[in-house]
Amino acid sequence: MHPDCERILFTQEQIAARVRAAAAWLDRRFAGRRPVAVCNLKGSVVFFCDLLRAMQTDAEMDFMAVSSYGNATAAVCRPKIKKHLFSSVEGRDVLLVEDIVDTGHTLLTLRAFLRERGAKSITVVTLLDKPARREVPAEADYACFSVEDAFVVGYGLDYAERYRNLPYIGVLKREACFASGKDEAPAGQAGADGFGS
Ligand code: IMP
Repeated sequence: MHPDCERILFTQEQIAARVRAAAAWLDRRFAGRRPVAVCNLKGSVVFFCDLLRAMQTDAEMDFMAVSSYGNATAAVCRPKIKKHLFSSVEGRDVLLVEDIVDTGHTLLTLRAFLRERGAKSITVVTLLDKPARREVPAEADYACFSVEDAFVVGYGLDYAERYRNLPYIGVLKREACFASGKDEAPAGQAGADGFGS
């Protein structure tokens, strides 16, 4: 285990099993259809690649990014779309792949964006769901894991751009936040590069 992690929450094997279950659920949902799968960069990218390869469905891939809101109060600082889609989603079934639904602001913003662009349907699958931190009503259609209110890293999720390539999901030690050069603990957000996380 990485020394900055306090404990492993989900092992590689547990994640792989839940990814397979999510893929099977999506295959049933999209039977006979060809959705556009949208990855919300960067945190979702590892999950996105594993999920898409576990699916039988013939899905197209596209990418988006929203700005993070640092430690500002989410209610006063809405996430902004930083990277638009390459293709049009007008009239298409969209599969939006998220790393984590935390306060829910990011998901609400992305759903509104996709609806405005004319998506026929929007299905949201998230790797993690942190229901205790929800500030707005934004729910995924499918969540692989529900997690407690702790800051987690690995399998795509970062803190200050670190830990994304850990193969498991672990709880970050509080001292690791202070040692990272950012002198504050995360409030459920990460990514100092304007790319959400
Ligand atoms: P929101 O609060 O639901 O809008 O989520 C904003 C973003 O914060 C998510 O897309 C994640 O990338 C990030 N985030 C929230 N909680 C965590 C965490 O525990 N670890 C790493 N990133 C997180």
